[in-house]
Amino acid sequence: MSLQEKCPILHFADLGDERGKLVVIEGGQAIPFQIQRVFYIYESDASVIRGQHANRKSEFVLINVAGQSKVRLTDGAEECIVELNRPMTGVYIPQMVWKDMYDFSEDAILLVLASTHYDEKEYIRDYEEYLKEVKG
Ligand code: TYD
Repeated sequence: MSLQEKCPILHFADLGDERGKLVVIEGGQAIPFQIQRVFYIYESDASVIRGQHANRKSEFVLINVAGQSKVRLTDGAEECIVELNRPMTGVYIPQMVWKDMYDFSEDAILLVLASTHYDEKEYIRDYEEYLKEVKG
């Protein structure tokens, strides 16, 4: 499976009306896992690179609910860059995909939905170690 097939762009339905936009994301429906954890990143700026890890167990969906950022993804074989700049669009990231988030606009709020509770032990933060495990 190609990296783009593994990490599809997700388009969420707009339930908005004349009062404004409304986006709903239900675990197991709009995204392919049950949501165990939500976190969001803001006040990063264009000089910052976040992420720089892969996860052995967690799946994620990243959505820039305000502003924009980029995420560079690799599975050790292919690389792709996804521009996140719409509150109705996200990217799904399965286990064992390395990710770097960067180029944050000043107003960026990056919302992250995760399939697990936080467990530092399932993070791989060393790229050489990641390559070893993913190619293993
Ligand atoms: P880090 O993984 O470096 O964040 P990012 O992926 O956005 O670059 O996490 C920063 C710190 O926050 C680190 O000490 C671990 C902690 N943390 C938690 O305790 N729970 C979480 O769910 C996350 C994502 C991080």
